Amino acid sequence: MTTKTRPATPSDAPAMCAILNEIIAIGGTTAYEDPFNPDGMIANYVTAPLLIACTVAELDGAVCGFQAIWRPDPSFPGAATMPPDWAAIASFVKVGMTGHGIGKSLFSATLAAARTAKVKAIDATIRADNASGLRFYGGMGFVEYAVIRDVPLKDGQLVDRIRKRFDLT
Ligand SMILES: CC(C)(COP(=O)(O)OP(=O)(O)OC[C@H]1O[C@@H](n2cnc3c(N)ncnc32)[C@H](O)[C@@H]1OP(=O)(O)O)[C@@H](O)C(=O)NCCC(=O)NCCS
Repeated sequence: MTTKTRPATPSDAPAMCAILNEIIAIGGTTAYEDPFNPDGMIANYVTAPLLIACTVAELDGAVCGFQAIWRPDPSFPGAATMPPDWAAIASFVKVGMTGHGIGKSLFSATLAAARTAKVKAIDATIRADNASGLRFYGGMGFVEYAVIRDVPLKDGQLVDRIRKRFDLT
């Protein structure tokens, strides 16, 4: 599967929403619980104030995944403990297209952007019940460095967050 990556633009927002909303609807991986609309996707991802890079992957001209890194956002769980030269990451690949290297190709583009922005470390804060997300970031070279205990979901269920870091040298 040969995918191409490029910076996201506002016109990608509907396709990005479709990818993320399907993942949200299935549940159990992303920390998001409410669906995104294109305006929210643009505000939080494509042109977010603290954004360093938002990259989409395309296969045959169709967006099949996206990944973003941001400077620490104070509203993000645990961001208060993140130095300002760190970045936070989120990654999403279309349901049914995972396991074919799309996430890895996105991370290659993200890493290049992080180096250009002189980011010292990238933080992935992942639901403890997201086994595939934990393994993906582990495969990319992230190592666990902290746990945030008992973060409540909307229904009151408490789920730990595992924090992994990727140090840039
Ligand atoms: C996590 C996610 C982005 C990974 O994307 P992907 O395209 O499936 O990942 P890739 O195919 O590029 O895999 C890259 C590496 O991670 C490993 N990996 C990925 N998913 C894995 C899994 N479920 N189990 C074991 N290894 C896995 C692969 O083996 C691969 O390593 P390799 O190149 O040495 O073989 C994707 O599964 C996804 O969108 N999940 C739902 C949302 C989510 O959990 N996001 C993360 C939290 S923000």
